[in-house]
Amino acid sequence: MDKLSLYQQQFLEYLAQNNRVVEPVNLYEPIHYILNLGGKRIRPILTLMGADIFGSTPEEALPAALAVEVFHNFSLVHDDIMDAAPLRRGKATVHTKWDINTGILSGDAMLIQAYQNFEAYAPELFLQLAKLFSKTALEVCEGQQYDVDFETRSDVTQDEYLHMITFKTAVLVGAAFQMGAIVAERDQKEQEAIYEYGKLLGIAFQLQDDYLDAFGNPETFGKQVGGDIIENKKTYLYLKAIELGSTSQKKELLYLFSDAFDGGAVGKIENAKQLFIETNAAEATQKLIKEYTEKAFEKVDTLAISQENKQLLIDFGVYLMNRRV
Ligand code: IPE
Ligand code: IPE
Ligand code: MG
Ligand code: MG
Ligand code: MG
Repeated sequence: MDKLSLYQQQFLEYLAQNNRVVEPVNLYEPIHYILNLGGKRIRPILTLMGADIFGSTPEEALPAALAVEVFHNFSLVHDDIMDAAPLRRGKATVHTKWDINTGILSGDAMLIQAYQNFEAYAPELFLQLAKLFSKTALEVCEGQQYDVDFETRSDVTQDEYLHMITFKTAVLVGAAFQMGAIVAERDQKEQEAIYEYGKLLGIAFQLQDDYLDAFGNPETFGKQVGGDIIENKKTYLYLKAIELGSTSQKKELLYLFSDAFDGGAVGKIENAKQLFIETNAAEATQKLIKEYTEKAFEKVDTLAISQENKQLLIDFGVYLMNRRV
């Protein structure tokens, strides 16, 4: 079995031991549901990998990995409410299967459970992990707020977009890695280097997420394809199409993403996707994904780890760039 599958298996066993439904079931059942829906488990795998490549063991990092995955799933429960999303990992979102109040409270409980996992560590490690986690979690909230604010703005810049995805997504990927380095008691310099690697990969990851949201296969993607278009999300696809489009293409896109448009979701999605392709915004997005992944790879060389472990980091980046779900 390859290392990534091994980390995943270890994590899933640990999750199964720590994901029980108790009373009141209306609080804990949705938590059990979302955590068992599957998903790629990218972030906990990174925490285990971080600990392993820096000389600790994946086992030592399991509580931190669980903290990261529970936090990620909490953020998805609330994100799906905010994005009015019906589907998650091919199944009903928590707030559609139950209701919005259930999604809010179960999500809150998950955020607290996430922190509780750090209690497994001695005071010095606990402090470092909790500090990084609090900083990261607050940044995710800031990113999420920008994402929502941008829905109703028509002057969002590409820099603003990159800042927004760095916060809502990339910092958690960086932090997941860094927690592994903290568990392995590596110094600040190495912690920062692996954090930067994760952050750059995380930016590529969110760009890919935005691309798949429009162009993914509805049979396998697991989320509502076109959801970002319905919600007027100012993704890189959109911003690049505005930049590259002709005057009439720009006008059409602005109209599709405005309050004045009342043509229904199916037509809106089809028209917007066509414009993303015709303006070469789709191609430009692919190019930027590659650029950020390559920028991340440059960081790998600065790490004091074995060649084999460097290759593991590169393989993971390649896997992310090629993902379709
Ligand atoms: C979804 O994350 C939210 C984003 C930041 C794009 P993932 O694509 O990692 O979701 P799962 O956990 O694999 O379902
Ligand atoms: C999600 O971004 C980021 C967080 C949950 C913090 P998206 O809204 O793009 O994620 P998906 O597409 O719903 O998974
Ligand atoms: Mg969403
Ligand atoms: Mg969102
Ligand atoms: Mg998305």
